[in-house]
Amino acid sequence: MSYIIRPWALTDLKAIMRLIRESASFHKALDQVKTTPEMLRDDGFGKEATFGCLVAEAPPEQTSKEGDTIVGYQFHYLTYCTWDGHILFGEDLYVRPDFRGKGIGSSLLAKAAKIALAKGCSQLRFISANWNQPATDFYTRLGAVNVTSRDKWNLCCIDKEDLQKLVEQARK
Ligand SMILES: CC(C)(COP(=O)(O)OP(=O)(O)OC[C@H]1O[C@@H](n2cnc3c(N)ncnc32)[C@H](O)[C@@H]1OP(=O)(O)O)[C@@H](O)C(=O)NCCC(=O)NCCS
Repeated sequence: MSYIIRPWALTDLKAIMRLIRESASFHKALDQVKTTPEMLRDDGFGKEATFGCLVAEAPPEQTSKEGDTIVGYQFHYLTYCTWDGHILFGEDLYVRPDFRGKGIGSSLLAKAAKIALAKGCSQLRFISANWNQPATDFYTRLGAVNVTSRDKWNLCCIDKEDLQKLVEQARK
């Protein structure tokens, strides 16, 4: 099957939003999706765009019932490591079920790798669910190392509510 990998365009917003929701469903976390097409437009195309997105586009004869040809996507943004300098962080990688196993996921990741190198990054970093063995195998084959096992790092976050508490506590 022929497909192209390209940076996303404003016209892809609706399709990307749909795939983000599909990816979240796959991760049993659809209720956690708070982003809207407007947020993605402002954060992805505004003056201070905070992320980039690659899309995999199928030929017109593969147009979905929703009326688009976007069959996969990869989100990424620059972050910084005090030990290593620039790092490209891969947020989501998703290919629609009917289009898997055709090289699209590997092509999206390879294009992200190219962007990482062009931006002088020392690595491409991403998170993968520990129950998602097919994805773990896929990433391992492409050279990824599980740093949670190797380096014993925990991924931590402070949610908005607790951020607020932290700010209020500091004021006291
Ligand atoms: C993981 C994923 C992005 C791979 O995309 P893809 O287009 O199927 O990847 P490719 O065709 O380049 O490579 C597929 C390889 O992975 C394996 N694979 C992993 N998951 C697969 C799946 N669900 N369906 C088909 N092949 C899968 C295949 O065996 C194949 O191996 P091979 O290259 O030795 O033949 C895709 O399966 C997907 O979107 N899965 C659901 C979401 C997900 O797990 N995302 C990654 C974690 S955030």
